[in-house]
Amino acid sequence: MSTPQTSALRLRRPDDWHLHLRDGDEMGAVLPFTSARFARAIVMPNLKPPVITTELALAYHRRICSRLPAGAAFQPLMTLYLTDRTDPAEVDRARESGRIFGFKLYPAGATTHAESGVTDVRRVDRVLERMSEARMVLQVHGEATDPSVDIFDREAHFIDAVLAPLAQRHSRLRIVLEHITTAHAVRFVRGARPGIAATITPQHLLLNRNALFAGGIRPHHYCLPVLKSEADREALVAAAVSGDARFFLGTDSAPHSRGAKEAACGCAGVFSAHAAIELYAEAFEAAGRLEALEGFASKFGADFYGLPRNTDEITLRQEPWRVPDAYPFGPGELVPLRAGETIAWRIVP
Ligand code: NCD
Ligand code: ZN
Repeated sequence: MSTPQTSALRLRRPDDWHLHLRDGDEMGAVLPFTSARFARAIVMPNLKPPVITTELALAYHRRICSRLPAGAAFQPLMTLYLTDRTDPAEVDRARESGRIFGFKLYPAGATTHAESGVTDVRRVDRVLERMSEARMVLQVHGEATDPSVDIFDREAHFIDAVLAPLAQRHSRLRIVLEHITTAHAVRFVRGARPGIAATITPQHLLLNRNALFAGGIRPHHYCLPVLKSEADREALVAAAVSGDARFFLGTDSAPHSRGAKEAACGCAGVFSAHAAIELYAEAFEAAGRLEALEGFASKFGADFYGLPRNTDEITLRQEPWRVPDAYPFGPGELVPLRAGETIAWRIVP
């Protein structure tokens, strides 16, 4: 990576290790943003119905590829949605497919389309054992589901009560704690045994929970895990820019139509794919650590998943641009992160 006079930044093409693409026309609307920036992405399986088998994942993979813009070299990496009833033999089928790189653990009810998730991790112990043997990655939505636990404490609670014991029980299982949001999670990953890593989203690096209530309630800043305190945000930035290979890029870009967000009970999810790498560049620049972006965005995730690093490059230019108020999204529209405001970096096509 080179930064001539700070105005242009070339870096090895990045990958997105946590992405929601949805399906059908909605997927068709958001996929070009990701394929213009990233070489690969782990595509989340929380469709309705969820992607619980190898067969369903391979069909979803085909639908994604059929919607790619002409000439795009983007590769979707699939993951299966764990349920209480996942068959341990599914691990072998998934691995043999060559297209599936992990299993996603949603504690039942923790987030959007997590109703079919796991009610008690003990129920998937045999699946996790097979995953350890097959070296498949467990991707974890790390939040307690007990509604009496304060929403800002759910990540820490889950780590202490569920994840730390699980990581000990399955001492060889490779685990990614997805979209971490707290200083507690950063400490957990730093102190964990080998084989445990975390992804960090752009919104959790750039915003704290005040952004949920700036001048009124701001549904487009609502995602799960919810934004946390400024001290937490600072801990996430420190981890992301540290060069510690256990922290890498996962946008959790999660598109919902405007109507689903601006509602009496609005959906969780921030859409960031339109400017994902540009937003990370802002966060790294604000920390004075642009030179650490390439490791976080383009090396550490591939290394963790045992995949080759990409060999081509992208270029970002320091040139502010105004984000549209909305993008088309199937029959509706989609309000992106920073809608109507400016972003400091632009990707050079
Ligand atoms: C995600 C979604 O909309 O699918 N929402 C979110 O707030 N992040 C689900 C998830 O990753 O939790
Ligand atoms: Zn997600």
